Amino acid sequence: MSLIKTAIVCVTAAVIFALVQGQGSVQPNCLGCICEASTQCNVSVGCHTPYAGAYFCGPFLISWAYWADAGKPVIQNDDPNRQGAFENCVNDLYCSAETVRQYMGKFATDCTGDGAINCEDIVRVHKIGYNGCNANVNANDAFWQSFRTCSARVNVD
Ligand SMILES: *[C@@H]1O[C@H](CO)[C@@H](O)[C@H](O)[C@H]1NC(C)=O
Repeated sequence: MSLIKTAIVCVTAAVIFALVQGQGSVQPNCLGCICEASTQCNVSVGCHTPYAGAYFCGPFLISWAYWADAGKPVIQNDDPNRQGAFENCVNDLYCSAETVRQYMGKFATDCTGDGAINCEDIVRVHKIGYNGCNANVNANDAFWQSFRTCSARVNVD
């Protein structure tokens, strides 16, 4: 995808999140860029098993364990203990964003050790986990390239 088109999609995601994310510790544009980097914020990606034991779903590529740790948020009137509640939530743009916000409410940490929890920390916890999240990342990896492009464009750090 061209840089211009990427930037436009990126801004679109950021605007969507600005509309739906009024509260919480994660900046809307940060959430938008994580969504962009994960799947180009595609709500139609569904669920995938990229390797044995891994199962990731939705625009943020969320695993069952991540969703459970977040507190099992559900779409309206769903039962968190119902089979399929996980997939229904994390394949939904709003519920998946809420999952990230709740997860970060519990597990966000200052990965980079700069004394503040900013978007760089949030994306690291999302992608790497809260343990060892100051690890070096491969800047050429599609996820990190996309995230850096988006975060520069919408001015989150
Ligand atoms: C979103 O993902 C679906 C399923 O993988 C794919 O068919 C579709 O082309 C994607 N949409 C965009 C805009 O990339």
